[in-house]
Amino acid sequence: MGCFPFSVSVRVLLLFSLVYAVSGLGANWGTQASHPLPPETIVRLLRDNGLSQVKLFDADYSTLRALGKSQIEVMVGIPNDMLSTMASSVKAAEKWVSKNVSQHISSFNVNIRYVAVGNEPFLETYNGSFLKTTFPALQNVQSALIKAGLGSTVKATVPLNADVYASSSGLPSGGDFRTDIHDLMLAIVKFYSDNGLPFTVNIYPFISLYIDDNFPVEYAFFDGNSSPIDDGGTSYYNMFDANHDTLVHALQKNGFGNLPIIVGEIGWPTDGDKNANIDYARRFNQGFVSHISGGKGTPMRPGPINAYFFSLIDEDAKSIDPGNFERHWGIFTYDGQAKYALNLGTTNSGTLVPARNVKYLEKKWCVLKSSAKLDDPQVASSVSYACGLADCTSLGYGTSCGTLDIEGNISYAFNSYYQKSNQLDIACKFTGLSVITKNDPSVGSCRFEVMIQPYYAGAKRISGNPQKLLVLILGLISFLLTIM
Ligand SMILES: *[C@@H]1O[C@H](CO)[C@@H](O)[C@H](O)[C@H]1NC(C)=O
Ligand SMILES: *[C@@H]1O[C@H](CO)[C@@H](O)[C@H](O)[C@H]1NC(C)=O
Ligand SMILES: *[C@@H]1O[C@H](CO)[C@@H](O)[C@H](O)[C@H]1NC(C)=O
Repeated sequence: MGCFPFSVSVRVLLLFSLVYAVSGLGANWGTQASHPLPPETIVRLLRDNGLSQVKLFDADYSTLRALGKSQIEVMVGIPNDMLSTMASSVKAAEKWVSKNVSQHISSFNVNIRYVAVGNEPFLETYNGSFLKTTFPALQNVQSALIKAGLGSTVKATVPLNADVYASSSGLPSGGDFRTDIHDLMLAIVKFYSDNGLPFTVNIYPFISLYIDDNFPVEYAFFDGNSSPIDDGGTSYYNMFDANHDTLVHALQKNGFGNLPIIVGEIGWPTDGDKNANIDYARRFNQGFVSHISGGKGTPMRPGPINAYFFSLIDEDAKSIDPGNFERHWGIFTYDGQAKYALNLGTTNSGTLVPARNVKYLEKKWCVLKSSAKLDDPQVASSVSYACGLADCTSLGYGTSCGTLDIEGNISYAFNSYYQKSNQLDIACKFTGLSVITKNDPSVGSCRFEVMIQPYYAGAKRISGNPQKLLVLILGLISFLLTIM
């Protein structure tokens, strides 16, 4: 009997933590995929998994329509290539806000709460291309929001990579903004403060490990196994806290210590690099969820943390300039299947709920013919052609298909191209080399994909898909002509 009140309080506690976890955890929804799921399917996926906020990289009409009435909080995005237009024309900013924010709120009940002005525009790899336009674009978009009567509900913010600040001492307390953009950052931060806007930052311990083999692996995670870093009496047990607090110190040092912070992107990829795998990704993301669900915050910022996973689903058409891992950030595969057990504290099952009613192409694959000769001069050119247009980022050292033999590698490339081309017969005609099979060639962790049926957003609206397919077909024809 004595345990009755105890179990009630446990239940209340669980309920509380459930509600708690729901608020403030979201996901980035990118659409650079050859075979995107229908927007309605993704919205259902978000809801089934209790993800209460979503961050977009543009303001696609059918995406926003699907989000209507879902109550999911939305951050819509202005891509970097629109920043100069937004910066130079108040009218353009007003049009953008009218078409891509006001209309969706009033006609479709979309719960738009933020506008992301650009995406990591100050990355050093952009060579300063957006240094002049980002701040004026932010100002124009913010005035347009105010003019549209949305000043108190929708906030403009620039998602920035954590490389906009650094620490001279290597400790969080040494944090300040990057010297080459220090004045610009101060102007932006002051504007945020004057207008009640949040600072949005993307933090990536994975990248630290990727670029530096000597990075202490345990410090990337949240298990507390690493030797802590002592910052004037404050102990840091993981890189996220230290990086986040480097920003807090940078803000504080410049007089804006109370500015709200949103973690715009955080996550871990599952393939395409020796440190990108299921185990590490689960460990990182689960660790992060537990870390923030207590509401403890970081040493410099106790309290709830508002964060968006990067990413919801894999995108097979992303540029691999940053690395082969770039197409594998999803907590779900491109077709909405959970990659690993992840407890967000928001589902009854305590694990991820997959996408519903996903429709696949036929169960067939394009592979290397057993009679094919590996020294056939066509092999190399066929593989590089297939990989160039499809996706071979799961091949290579330490990846999910990294232990395939040479025949397996070739088959993987052929199949990826064949599936991406919607299993067109002509896409499995690598002269004398390829054959279609009904036996799944997948082995162990290496999944030979069967893609989902292409989705066309409405009869009249042409989504990226058919155009991409046309490019593939034209490419194939010219390739066949050159080898004939
Ligand atoms: C609205 O957003 C879409 C998608 O990002 C963009 O293509 C379009 O130009 C925007 N509309 C206006 C009026 O700026
Ligand atoms: C930045 O500069 C480098 C070296 O000059 C060049 O290779 C690269 O293409 C440039 N990137 C952009 C986005 O302009
Ligand atoms: C398979 O392809 C990957 C990526 O191109 C390469 O790194 C690897 O060495 C290949 N494996 C074999 C056995 O040829």
